[in-house]
Amino acid sequence: MDSFAFIIHPIDPKRDVTRKYPVLGKILPEPTIHFLSRFWPPVRLSHVTGARSMGTGKEIEGWLIAVPYTTQRMLTLPAKEVYRKIIAAGRLAESLGAKILGLGAYTSVIGDGGRTIANALDIAVTSGDSYTAAISVYATQKAARLMEIDLAQSVVAVVGAGGAIGQAVSQLLAPSIGRMILIGRQRESLELVVDKVHAMGCADVVISEDVSTISTAEVVLTVTSSGGNLIQPEMLRRGAVVCDVSRPRDVSWQVSRARDDVLVIDGGLVRVPGKIHFGFDYGLPADLTYGCFAETMTLAFEGLFEDYSVGKDLSLEKVRQIDALATHHGFELAALRSFEKKLDESLIEKIKAKVQR
Ligand SMILES: NC(=O)c1ccc[n+]([C@@H]2O[C@H](COP(=O)([O-])OP(=O)(O)OC[C@H]3O[C@@H](n4cnc5c(N)ncnc54)[C@H](OP(=O)(O)O)[C@@H]3O)[C@@H](O)[C@H]2O)c1
Repeated sequence: MDSFAFIIHPIDPKRDVTRKYPVLGKILPEPTIHFLSRFWPPVRLSHVTGARSMGTGKEIEGWLIAVPYTTQRMLTLPAKEVYRKIIAAGRLAESLGAKILGLGAYTSVIGDGGRTIANALDIAVTSGDSYTAAISVYATQKAARLMEIDLAQSVVAVVGAGGAIGQAVSQLLAPSIGRMILIGRQRESLELVVDKVHAMGCADVVISEDVSTISTAEVVLTVTSSGGNLIQPEMLRRGAVVCDVSRPRDVSWQVSRARDDVLVIDGGLVRVPGKIHFGFDYGLPADLTYGCFAETMTLAFEGLFEDYSVGKDLSLEKVRQIDALATHHGFELAALRSFEKKLDESLIEKIKAKVQR
């Protein structure tokens, strides 16, 4: 049977460590978890079974593997040290028989978007960023529709626009929006994206290195490696839609408490075909997963065992290809969720009423 492996790592250190080691997670203080995460080896978390393509009927199996580094640890350690542990996790995947390895969350953010890791391993590697980009754009468009926002007449901000997913979503959104604000930390990388967005048909594009510029946008898609809590309640325009693809999330939980006049959705979520059993609770309902994981499974369904989304400059051709393949095998945009809960349509009516008052 064709098989895959997918790497995850602790994002919310106490909560995520508790999922694997209930006692350790409860007793260890967060700074100790960050410290110990440097020395803990990669861990096989579970055997994933029951994934079945709706398009071909093919069944695949896989493994979830943890690289124990927390996000904070990965952002502060030298990239070479982080690579070493991810490559060790990749070797574990190889020994289990996996033919492709997906790099979840920061395991593809650090360094060169998976290129060094792909070069070091014998099996195929993908960051999963191409399908994440496609599905995040769908989620943003759906949320805007529900809020009756006409994208063609709107200001759309992409935060993290210079990154791998940020560049791709900016280009995918470009043909259908009024004005685009590209936000990031480095002007030079944003300037390169301006040209690509122009080429896709959006003439009105500005760049900003100040995240608070999102206060002028009706729609925000945020996809950064900030490490979390980048977007605070006072930054958002009344009635705004925000699609938060980042993990850890960019939008502070404070927004859910302080702003009942904006709609924040969790981006990048996908419904999986078949009766999948992940064997490990990584914080989503049983039939959902992240776009990056869905891309890895799609490639296994397809038997396409080659390095796919690697590097920071994704090809739009591949984004479109993986989107079509994933749809063929039965993956689809998950019902929208907000701050880890299924979005209740009545909430949207409440937000709209609040905005109209
Ligand atoms: N939901 C899902 O299914 C899913 C799947 C894959 C990835 N992700 C998440 O998506 C995010 C981005 O992934 P990626 O592969 O695109 O990463 P990436 O290529 O490293 O891009 C991240 C971008 O964020 C920018 N950035 C970092 N801190 C910032 C700040 N404080 N203000 C503004 N911009 C900032 C970076 O700018 P500089 O280059 O200037 O540093 C970079 O351009 C990560 O959080 C990752 O975990 C989610």
